[in-house]
Amino acid sequence: MSESKKPVFQPNPEFSKDARIKNMSEYQALQDEAINDYESFWSRFAKEKVDWIEPFTKTLDESNFPFVKWFDGGKLNVSTQCIDRHLDTRGEKTAILFEGDRGDIQKITYNELAKSVNKFANLLKEDFGVKKGDRIVIYMPMIPEAAFAMLACTRIGAIHSIVFGGFSAEALKDRIIDANAKVVITADGAFRKGKPYMLKPVVDTALEGNTSVKNVLVIERNKEEITWVDGRDNSYAELIKNKSDVCEAEVMDSEDPLFLLYTSGSTGKPKGVQHNTAGYILWAQMTMEWVFDVKEEDVFWCTADVGWITGHTYIVYGPLATGATTVMFEGVPTYPDAGRPWKMVQEHKITHFYTAPTAIRVLHKMGEDEPKKYDLSSLKVLGTVGEPIDPPAWKWYYEEVGNSKCAIVDTYWQTETGGHVISPLPGATPIKPGCATLPVPGIIAEILDPITGEKVGLGESGYMCITRPWPSMIRGVWGDEERFVKAYFGDVKKDGKAVYFTGDGAKYDEDGYITITGRTDDVINVSGHRMGTAEVEAAINKDENVAEVAVVGKPHEIKGEGIFAYIVLKSDVEDEDAERKSINNIIKKEIGNIAICDDIIFAPGLPKTRSGKIMRRILRSIAKGEKITQDISTLEDPSIVAKIEMMVNG
Ligand code: WTA
Repeated sequence: MSESKKPVFQPNPEFSKDARIKNMSEYQALQDEAINDYESFWSRFAKEKVDWIEPFTKTLDESNFPFVKWFDGGKLNVSTQCIDRHLDTRGEKTAILFEGDRGDIQKITYNELAKSVNKFANLLKEDFGVKKGDRIVIYMPMIPEAAFAMLACTRIGAIHSIVFGGFSAEALKDRIIDANAKVVITADGAFRKGKPYMLKPVVDTALEGNTSVKNVLVIERNKEEITWVDGRDNSYAELIKNKSDVCEAEVMDSEDPLFLLYTSGSTGKPKGVQHNTAGYILWAQMTMEWVFDVKEEDVFWCTADVGWITGHTYIVYGPLATGATTVMFEGVPTYPDAGRPWKMVQEHKITHFYTAPTAIRVLHKMGEDEPKKYDLSSLKVLGTVGEPIDPPAWKWYYEEVGNSKCAIVDTYWQTETGGHVISPLPGATPIKPGCATLPVPGIIAEILDPITGEKVGLGESGYMCITRPWPSMIRGVWGDEERFVKAYFGDVKKDGKAVYFTGDGAKYDEDGYITITGRTDDVINVSGHRMGTAEVEAAINKDENVAEVAVVGKPHEIKGEGIFAYIVLKSDVEDEDAERKSINNIIKKEIGNIAICDDIIFAPGLPKTRSGKIMRRILRSIAKGEKITQDISTLEDPSIVAKIEMMVNG
């Protein structure tokens, strides 16, 4: 390895010894196998890893690219892959280790999981008439029943669409309508920081008026009082009582839809990212084995919420497909103090800890010395995801949490990629702080120049692209074929052929390692959560005093990026702070707390070109406190820039 500016940390030899991929030559051999005969590579692993009901006949059909088919002809069921096939060998092993906010613990074995999922599936079928292909919205706290619900859907071939519990009633309603959902599965609420919080009232508001939803299933968690709509609302505790714990798995085609997950893009409303059956589960399982190198005795904890893709792939589907023990946590990492995660690591002998840079920054800031108070010697692999990790946070994570012996896998991926695409492998890859390193074997990814479509040179910025279809790639945007093609395959061509563009910028370093530099579009990344500026602007525009608005991201110490809004009011308001509050209240109502603006500036106007396009680049620079160096003479009103600069930066 050549000399590099960033420090390099070698894998722990103790770990490498037993790792599935032990060194860089093994990594390279696998990647070469994929490059040299792509279909054989995938066919080999698909045969090895998946319990097929009927084998597939064609590995990859890309004749209708970007609408591709993987493992055509194959038949399988994801719940079988995650549960049934483990029952003979690890039926009494803990599948889900749940810890509640207040410290209550449940250990659910694979045998118990099988029963709960089958009963749940029977309930959906018998009581609500759910059939293959129906859409089920899940709006749930982090409790085991969320996983039961997901797996019950997959058991009977229903398509789940999980909506993160932090989204507002409006956001939930939009997603219910877009997917034309038949059932909503929710809970009364749950616990956070020792206190109950509510979800069911949000569902009630979302379902006001006419919707496609015929039944709401309510799981009791915090037992707080809720209102009940007769004929629509159903008690899980009641209905589950008399259900059989045997439910035959629906035989699914490889390309039958598995789930939808709505995510933000740069324009318009959130898109329902569609993942299909075989390719998704294969890659979820393979990345558990390669990127986390999870072993039979390991205890795997991913701190994400099941409402995000990370929770789908690395709390539920990946760990269970691998037969691992997966930890599910209801609470927040800083309650009762910032030692909570480390206490959990000690108590449950957690071996893998996977979280977001935001959480690491919070834990670092609020409890720098907390890791020292606990026995963290069980830890083997640490992971991060969701945004670039800054070197100070990385250093603390590596030294204080990992005791300088655990690999940090900086996993780069997206809702659309289904699983990791760029990441170190813990037993093989020398790592550098803040660097996602190399494509996971099987993923053909390159940083391309958006104009020429050529691979960029050392240190040059380009677009992070995946140039061959991969099994767990997005299969469509629900109900909008055109948007699917345009959003992901419209920007970059390599050798004249459209390739998948992630929306992220990236660079190579002298070792060929990839560093992700962040979004190139109008998507901001708040605490690792994707937020489209267009969505936030649409919410703000609902305030009657607002004439015009532009929203940009601004670096934020903890959240990575915060939201900065430039607003032009129709006329002056008496109390600007009250107006700011009212705007944030509208955002809370339309989207949820995660989209609240950190800064709101009432500007005299917005910098626009003569054709009326808002110059966001200028607004981003001002928000960052940078001097404006670009030519502004062609703006419709160049004087606006100085005025706004004055207001923001003095
Ligand atoms: C960003 C989360 C840098 C990126 C799994 C991507 C990252 C978006 C990393 C996807 C990383 C994710 N380093 N940036 N390791 N991982 N991102 O869909 O901008 O919620 O496009 O999926 O997060 O966010 P999403």
